[in-house]
Amino acid sequence: MKKIGVLTSGGDSQGMNAAVYATVRAALSANAEIFAIRHGYQGLIDGEVERMSAKSVEDIAHRGGTVLGTSRCPEMKTLQGQQKAVDVLNKYGIEGLVVIGGDGSFAGAKTLSTRYGVKVIGIPGTIDNDLAYTDYTLGFDSAVAVVADNVNLLRDTMSCNNRTCVVEVMGRECGDIAMFAALACGAEAVLVPELPYDPDAVAATIKHNANLGKFDNIVIVAEGIRFGGELVKGHVADNVMADLSARLPELNVRTMVLGHLQRSGNATVRDRLLGIEMGAHAVKCLAEGKTDRVIGVKNDVVFDEDMVEALAKTKVFNRAIYDLANNLVKY
Ligand code: ADP
Ligand code: F6P
Repeated sequence: MKKIGVLTSGGDSQGMNAAVYATVRAALSANAEIFAIRHGYQGLIDGEVERMSAKSVEDIAHRGGTVLGTSRCPEMKTLQGQQKAVDVLNKYGIEGLVVIGGDGSFAGAKTLSTRYGVKVIGIPGTIDNDLAYTDYTLGFDSAVAVVADNVNLLRDTMSCNNRTCVVEVMGRECGDIAMFAALACGAEAVLVPELPYDPDAVAATIKHNANLGKFDNIVIVAEGIRFGGELVKGHVADNVMADLSARLPELNVRTMVLGHLQRSGNATVRDRLLGIEMGAHAVKCLAEGKTDRVIGVKNDVVFDEDMVEALAKTKVFNRAIYDLANNLVKY
């Protein structure tokens, strides 16, 4: 393959830059021309294409966000938008496209392949870790590190004031960030979308702790938990705080929404290495003439798999991590 494109799409995540770095360098090593497409599918539709050199990706692998820029692009879901995107690819002679993003971005890639014959390879870039076919997505490890580090900071003020803090974290419908971070920083309770929300149980834990003389608590809550089966508008941390205050009127409670901090800051070494391996693997797939593949990692081995089969898989909730996070903090 002589001409390859690379773009990042959807929510940015740490590790995307590492994947871009490796895609560019591996393509050059394979004597292919490599083009960066800025701002995801919107940039593709608008013709934001730039030929890359080895220097273009110097010193980027560790950085958070994505140096290519990203977008959520409704136009890509329309036939008109897709035609514009393909016209741009044809103009530059780009035959293969590496798409770094989540399942939405992969759906866009699949469309380009099925309808227009573009060869596409997906690299999982999302902090949410919500793709079933891979153990980890790029950015997850870094986001968990941000949460754990910030909760460790919060402890200082919460403990000396005997306060409980409800900390809201991202993840959409997936509780992985919440429960892995809870385990890493010893949160007293964790609430995830995969299990029913039970405010009485959280209140009971806090009361039990107080009876034993422990008055500071961290409750990590995933943004996707439901109240009476419904997603709430605004911050779920506020609802959890209200529920706890109603049950424990004496509780000294605050909230903290970590928000987009979780997608910021340097990538962990793990995310960098994973991104680099995945980027190189994506180029290898294209060089072998493969298409409609997604890159993943299982038991530390990077692999590629059919895109449709991979996306049809249902993520299994990691009950062992959830139970461990709860058991180890018991007083
Ligand atoms: P993520 O890739 O992180 O899941 P989104 O769900 O926002 O993020 O998807 C990123 C982009 O992928 C969308 O803004 C849109 O441009 C494109 N996309 C998503 N679904 C489709 C689809 N069914 N067909 C074509 N493009 C899509
Ligand atoms: O999918 C990644 C993610 O960070 C989710 O965890 C979060 O719900 C969402 O993106 C936030 O999106 P935005 O950056 O568009 O506010």
